[in-house]
Amino acid sequence: MKKILVTGGLGYIGSHTVVELIHKNYEVVIADDLSNSKESVLEGINSVCGTKPKWFNIDLSNSHKSVKFLENQEFDGVIHFAAFKAVGESVLNPLKYYRNNLLSLMSLMSYLKTHNHCSFIFSSSCSVYGQAKSLPITENMETKSAKSPYGNTKQICEEILKESSAAYDLKSIALRYFNPIGAHPTGKIGELPIGVPQNLIPFITQSAAGIRGALNVYGNDYPTPDGTAIRDYIHVVDLAQAHIIALERLLNNKNASPMEIFNIGTGKGSSVLEVIKAFEKASGKKLDYKITGRREGDITSAYADTKRAKEILGWKSKKTLEDALKDAWKWQKKLGQRNPD
Ligand code: UD1
Repeated sequence: MKKILVTGGLGYIGSHTVVELIHKNYEVVIADDLSNSKESVLEGINSVCGTKPKWFNIDLSNSHKSVKFLENQEFDGVIHFAAFKAVGESVLNPLKYYRNNLLSLMSLMSYLKTHNHCSFIFSSSCSVYGQAKSLPITENMETKSAKSPYGNTKQICEEILKESSAAYDLKSIALRYFNPIGAHPTGKIGELPIGVPQNLIPFITQSAAGIRGALNVYGNDYPTPDGTAIRDYIHVVDLAQAHIIALERLLNNKNASPMEIFNIGTGKGSSVLEVIKAFEKASGKKLDYKITGRREGDITSAYADTKRAKEILGWKSKKTLEDALKDAWKWQKKLGQRNPD
């Protein structure tokens, strides 16, 4: 049984990936300091797969603690999700973001330096492309200077990973996610946003549940068919499965270079108004929304070119936007009126 460390394994994408790993008979060890997750997620994982993985409450950016935790461990693979991700907060408190996101990665790189048989998957983001010159976005397109400290940490982490992978002959893959949404179809795990959700889908589901007021649609004057911005929304279970396929590529030494990069998206763009319509159809609820001004830092349009993931990884998304919105709504109904914070 291969042993895989999942950092941030109680978080949104992490918990779905843990479930997929357990389904495929991996032994999972979670490192998560609960900074943006809850211990109860372990029960959710247990009720989906009948196994409760080992969990360590550890902050990996604390180098003393992480060295102690990692020194006697033999992992076959590490999937690294543990990072702060709130764009707005990162602008207000950049050091918090640089300290946590960079130091956690560096702790893991120090471990890999002496355990370079261990496969490493890094959670990156399509935000590294900014507004791309043409669509769909391929992995070869230039990256743009980040618009927030959060985005910058993803770019710097990719650089650290690239240089460390080359210098220490590592096996690593960075997955550049487009917009992960939805929840597990069982309704037992999903996203638990802290405070007022900044992302579109959790705001929509909380608004439909009566926890929030009307949805603000940030701008209808974009150069898109209906004037609202376009994104590539990918079901979190599809995304979780992409991690397993990427991990297995490395475990089987199929990688072509020390660090590889793949876009993980559906390849299909949807506008905010299309998402609203699709949600109303999936949930049977009418959404209350109003058009407001653009949100600073938002781009017009982004969706993935999925060719490299299909041809090299052998992965493609299977679920539709409607599937994801149905599952997001099922999860919200389970949470009910309870504001997760
Ligand atoms: C955001 C982050 C990005 C991060 C990603 C994670 C920003 C600027 N970018 O991406 O760095 O990697 O989340 O999933 O925060 N929208 C509304 N009303 C809302 C919320 C969103 O109209 O209340 C619109 C946005 O303007 C955007 C689309 O919905 O056009 C998607 O927004 P969101 O879910 O926040 O994702 P991104 O902005 O693409």
